[in-house]
Amino acid sequence: MSVGIDDISFATSNFYLDLKNLADVQQIETDKFYLGIGQEKMGIVPADEDVVTMAANAAYPLLQGIDKNRISTLLFATETAIDQSKAAGLFVHGLLDLPSRCRVVELKQACYSATAALQMACALVARNPEQQVLVLASDIARYDLNSSGEATQGCGAVAMLISANPRLVEIDPQSGHYSEDVMDFWRPNYRSTALVDGKYSTKIYLKALKQAWTHYHEVSGVEFDQLDYFCYHLPFSRMAEKAQLQLARFCKSDADCDTLLAKIEPSLHYNRIIGNSYTASMYIGLNSLLDHADEDLSGKRIGFFSYGSGCVAEFFGGRIVEGYRAHLRRERHRQLLAERQELSYSEYLRFYNFVHPTDGGDHQFAEQTRGRFRLAGISQHKRIYSPRS
Ligand code: CAA
Repeated sequence: MSVGIDDISFATSNFYLDLKNLADVQQIETDKFYLGIGQEKMGIVPADEDVVTMAANAAYPLLQGIDKNRISTLLFATETAIDQSKAAGLFVHGLLDLPSRCRVVELKQACYSATAALQMACALVARNPEQQVLVLASDIARYDLNSSGEATQGCGAVAMLISANPRLVEIDPQSGHYSEDVMDFWRPNYRSTALVDGKYSTKIYLKALKQAWTHYHEVSGVEFDQLDYFCYHLPFSRMAEKAQLQLARFCKSDADCDTLLAKIEPSLHYNRIIGNSYTASMYIGLNSLLDHADEDLSGKRIGFFSYGSGCVAEFFGGRIVEGYRAHLRRERHRQLLAERQELSYSEYLRFYNFVHPTDGGDHQFAEQTRGRFRLAGISQHKRIYSPRS
């Protein structure tokens, strides 16, 4: 019996800023963003969109026409939680009308925790193959204005249904791990924006890649050249390029640069125009790979590198299932991205500077998101979610 991803989809805000506008304001060349970091646009949330609404929007299509009673567990991975106590997944549980026998919990370790959730989900399903686990990863990446990280903001959520004999990706049981107590990126509880030591964070990312790969190679025996495609954590898409070239050198692969980069290229399309979505980012990369690869990926082996600052990293493998193409949601993703609305720089600032009220009063938010679910208001410190009218 194999275990893995039976269905997958993502959601993001329907508003974005083209990084050309940011480059103009900062009086730098647009190519620093388009080529230097490999990002073109970043998703920006309106007042009525948050990690819950994006996650519910990502998960909704996966639940149509299936028996929800098989979903024993909902794991919600995020590093931009909305409550210090209540799991964000409980709001999603309500919006999606999941069974009361489905347990719900939230996981945190920077951008890594969706991978912890995936591995836990696979273990639960291996223990009882009748059950399914819904893994949600949802984040809003925010840095200070005029900081080095500003151009790498973004937002997105991914939903994955984990089951026995999956229709999309079988996840191998072996994986390699690396953890180290470092301060490369963090967000104290009293801040709404992350702090980052940018250049140091990229060095730690690459160090963690080497260490996690070494462990993975030891336990699996898989060689670098046996992997057909790679999905890396994508804080910005050029990070994957740096990772792929470094790993190839470390593994002494004699493939040329173009061949190496062709193994990551299909995974980058969505992130280039969505931006960083922290926990969701590598799995939106997987959506991109599945939706964009020219060749039929059936039987291909994928290497995954998940990285969360602070830091925890994991390298693991998966195999694409024969006939996966019939179960993709490519058209939904295309439409979601095509219907997004561009923001001017001043509109971006207005969105960025909006702060949800904390006074305990009754507040309603104008309808801006075009997703199925929205944050309608906050009343007496309680978030009120509803389907869009
Ligand atoms: N045309 C083409 N390329 C250009 C250019 C131009 N006109 N101008 C500059 N560039 C290139 C530079 O040469 C550089 O390329 P290399 O990386 O190959 O040297 C690239 O653009 C970036 O330029 P800088 O290094 O000068 O950019 P920066 O100082 O603004 O910082 C960054 C880049 C540190 C990554 C910054 O974007 C940042 O702090 N980002 C947030 C932190 C981050 O994402 N870290 C990643 C690892 S941590 C992680 O993965 C967890 C997570 O999700 C946050």
